[in-house]
Amino acid sequence: MLGGRVPILGDLPRLVFTKMVIKEAMRLYPPIWIIERRVLANDVVGGFHLPSGSAVVIAPYALHRHPAFWERPEEFDPARFANRAPPAYIPFGAGPRFCIGSEFAMLEAQLITAMVAQSFRLRLAPGHPWNRSPALLSAPATAYG
Ligand code: HEM
Repeated sequence: MLGGRVPILGDLPRLVFTKMVIKEAMRLYPPIWIIERRVLANDVVGGFHLPSGSAVVIAPYALHRHPAFWERPEEFDPARFANRAPPAYIPFGAGPRFCIGSEFAMLEAQLITAMVAQSFRLRLAPGHPWNRSPALLSAPATAYG
């Protein structure tokens, strides 16, 4: 698509596969993997009683791998984003608190991913342990934990 040159803003609409790869990466590894809400008043959702004041945790990580919404959920397959993502895909949240920076984040990710892929083929260093760190943000664990 780029013929080896650095991507610019105008290239973004044509970097379709790059965007699909990023979306699939955020499906399997959503940086915000849990979202919390506080129940304002007694409620019933899906047959569950939610007492006022209790915490409700929405887990993009679980939704993004739920077999009811995804075929071969554990498989990395960017092609699944050739079409519109199902409502169970919420890497940037949903509703009134939807991420204000989603467009900017996708813009940056597309440009950076394209530029890295132009110059490098990334692979895990042999024997390097790979793990995730389930803190507020899900990220690769570092040597420091
Ligand atoms: C890959 C990058 C990003 C991811 C995965 C992400 C994810 C999210 C998610 C899931 C929420 C909803 C939280 C909730 O419902 O409680 C959120 C909200 C928010 N994000 Fe992001 N975000 C990203 C990048 C950014 C950037 C670049 C900015 C700012 C430039 C930003 C600013 C915000 C703000 C201000 C909110 C709160 C919106 C509100 O409560 O009205 N985010 N983000």
